[in-house]
Amino acid sequence: MSRVILGVGAGIAAYKACELLRRLREAGHQVRVIPTGDALRFVGAPTWEALSGEPVATDVWTSVEEVPHVRLGQGADLVVVAPATADLLARAAAGMASDLLTATLLTARCPVIFAPAMHTEMWEHPATQANVATLRARGAIVVDPAAGRLTGSDSGPGRLPEPAALFEIAEQTLSSLTDRAGSLASRRVLISAGGTREELDPVRFLGNWSTGRQGYAFARAAVARGAEVTVVAANVELPDPAGAKVIPVVSAREMHAAMLAEAPGADIVVMTAAVADYRPVTRSERKIKKEAGPPSPVELTENPDILADLAARRAQSGPAAQVVVGFAAETDTDPDAARAKLARKGCDFLVVNQVGNGLGFGTGDNEAVVLGADGSSAVIGRRSKDALAAAVLDLAAARIFP
Ligand code: C5P
Repeated sequence: MSRVILGVGAGIAAYKACELLRRLREAGHQVRVIPTGDALRFVGAPTWEALSGEPVATDVWTSVEEVPHVRLGQGADLVVVAPATADLLARAAAGMASDLLTATLLTARCPVIFAPAMHTEMWEHPATQANVATLRARGAIVVDPAAGRLTGSDSGPGRLPEPAALFEIAEQTLSSLTDRAGSLASRRVLISAGGTREELDPVRFLGNWSTGRQGYAFARAAVARGAEVTVVAANVELPDPAGAKVIPVVSAREMHAAMLAEAPGADIVVMTAAVADYRPVTRSERKIKKEAGPPSPVELTENPDILADLAARRAQSGPAAQVVVGFAAETDTDPDAARAKLARKGCDFLVVNQVGNGLGFGTGDNEAVVLGADGSSAVIGRRSKDALAAAVLDLAAARIFP
């Protein structure tokens, strides 16, 4: 059981924080809700008290004998502010202590997660962005808002991520507390996810079964550790991972260009994507007609090896500047072949995972052996893709903070 403070700002998305609170309570945590005064216009104190089983106050003048403006922050294991309004971010960045929530933010020495929600213009305003940058520089995790429908008829970035996604980030942050080396605060993590498609004509392609679930699990795990996360996603139909920037691509060559453009400055690069090794030499501009007979043989040409290119560029730009992690999905496991692949790719870690038998593509679970370029090998037994991502990030983070 952890002691969690749920700060609630005065935004319409306050109703979603009720669901987040319920999940935190069901996970066994003690949750103290601290709304701002205006937040109570959206969801009233009785709702928060009933769902949390704890008293609710917004000012520093209630139960003064317990010195709540200091004690609550000091005793917390985690503070989650959802929704964090533009005003609340500004007050937090300025270090103000004008109500119980901002006073608590000043006394808390535990991880703090802000989940902003506001209209796109307010989110994109340089003042808000500067406040977010200040909070991140101080070690807070600021989860980028999701894009989509806002309160009125408008849409754009500014939505509060779904409560389930915020709960996952909170849980992972709490579990990484036991291992501070796992923190990736203000580090940059670049992840490829999904499966590339190589077009034969406007309606047909050569592709694979990768869904992007393992890559998105890495994104969640890295966001929970405080990293700035970018995902290059090939044909992924999952909701964007909360707090990560997603760059959609279709083909291997598009992924190659996007990954190479994003890689400089990344501390960790994880290639989970299933990349087509070959693509058709030609793509028909018009749909290939059945009457024309099968377009056989389809002539193929090799795609760039993105992982090998990333590793090679990294090697040229200095030692250990960046940790590069590759994946090798295999239907049979030959340790020598896996070691040879690790050497061929030139990456630091190769996560060798079996596909088939309820594991790998499209499934919830994964298991793997992580081979290190230093000769190490670590077995990660069958577990969820989120848990596997967390274990691999621990190994990568240990390289950054030896
Ligand atoms: O050679 P193989 O496809 O088994 O290697 C798998 C690893 O290499 C994965 O990390 C995958 O993302 C990456 N890869 C790549 N570019 C390719 C093929 C694979 O980056 N063209």
